[in-house]
Amino acid sequence: MPRTVITFGTFDVFHVGHLRVLERAAALGDRLVVGVSADALNERKKGRVPVFSQRERLAIVAALRVVDEVFVEESLELKRDYLVEHAADVLVMGDDWAGKFDDLGDICEVVYLPRTPAISTTAIIEHIAEL
Ligand code: CTP
Repeated sequence: MPRTVITFGTFDVFHVGHLRVLERAAALGDRLVVGVSADALNERKKGRVPVFSQRERLAIVAALRVVDEVFVEESLELKRDYLVEHAADVLVMGDDWAGKFDDLGDICEVVYLPRTPAISTTAIIEHIAEL
């Protein structure tokens, strides 16, 4: 049976921190599925409409060599349903979420990966705005 890894994120203004987390997630199994958060979810979660639309963000993530499948994450509350739907063996989250998804350990392995230092979409947007 192939080992399916699943992860979630906005992946707006795609940067090297995004690439690294997806590469490390892919290395934990045979197949990587990525839930890309919906525009509406981002507006609720981060109070900001993403620079790139969900359609564009999905297209970028889907085109990566390490990614096998993408879908739109409509709600943060549906994690368990998404894991079951995609038959995930491993859930990967950034360590900014450490401990927050341990309850899903009954249906899959839960791994928190350290973030790449000193880069984020928010910092990039702020940097460009100051130019
Ligand atoms: N990520 C990472 N290293 C970074 C930035 C993000 O490993 N420097 C990971 C996050 O932990 C998450 C995924 O990339 O697993 C998607 O994160 P996302 O929130 O879309 O990116 P950020 O750059 O953190 O965006 P923002 O500044 O809007 O919070």
